[in-house]
Amino acid sequence: MRKDFSQRYSGSLRWLHWLGFAAVALAYLFISLTGLFGKNDPMQTTMLQAHFAAGLAVLILVVPRIFIRLFTTVPPISPQPSRLTHRAAGITHFLLYAFLLVQPLLGLSFMQLSGKAIHLPGGWEIPVFLAVKHPQWAHILEEIHVTLGTIFFWVIGLHIAAAMWHHWRIRDNTLQRML
Ligand code: HEM
Ligand code: HEM
Repeated sequence: MRKDFSQRYSGSLRWLHWLGFAAVALAYLFISLTGLFGKNDPMQTTMLQAHFAAGLAVLILVVPRIFIRLFTTVPPISPQPSRLTHRAAGITHFLLYAFLLVQPLLGLSFMQLSGKAIHLPGGWEIPVFLAVKHPQWAHILEEIHVTLGTIFFWVIGLHIAAAMWHHWRIRDNTLQRML
């Protein structure tokens, strides 16, 4: 069967969506794996560095994505969902974009404020640019980073469940538009 390409998100938005998904999933995976190793275990450092790398990839991917999204049209869903569903999806997508932008920026900010360079896999490093440390602010931003990370784990779960619901229950073209 021929696919109607006009009913899909643009190729760049689809790529950025799925690469973004992979980067976020890896960020969660690596930070969870740090818990498996003891404080002095080099594997813990490796997992943390991998978390930084995946988190920075999220930031790099979301910036062009937001620009492309602002200047392209969203393909319609058919059959058309109710206004309430449309509204709920719009709010969730806005929150997901905000999270993709803010969460890595929080990570970068609290590392800078605590005067810690960000060591990445392969010996790469983002040095400390700030001349002064602000440990209290660093602590607050770190707490927000951890809390948002927990909240959005569930928001992302809800987003995936909604995509599945549209595909398997309602049987509309919501998911096909992103494939
Ligand atoms: C979208 C990207 C990111 C996601 C989804 C994410 C998610 C998380 C989560 C869920 C935790 C809490 C783990 C726990 O203790 O339960 C965490 C911790 C942490 N994240 Fe991220 N993170 C991201 C990006 C970054 C970036 C870019 C950096 C730094 C460059 C960073 C640095 C850290 C650090 C240092 C911790 C440990 C904080 C602590 O245990 O108090 N994260 N992250
Ligand atoms: C880290 C995980 C994910 C994040 C952060 C995320 C984020 C987003 C965002 C921000 C949008 C709005 C796109 C736009 O209108 O510009 C979107 C759309 C979409 N996502 Fe995800 N997504 C994730 C994972 C997934 C997964 C695993 C699936 C499928 C199982 C999925 C299916 C969809 C679908 C079908 C749409 C189109 C929804 C619509 O236009 O109404 N997403 N996603």
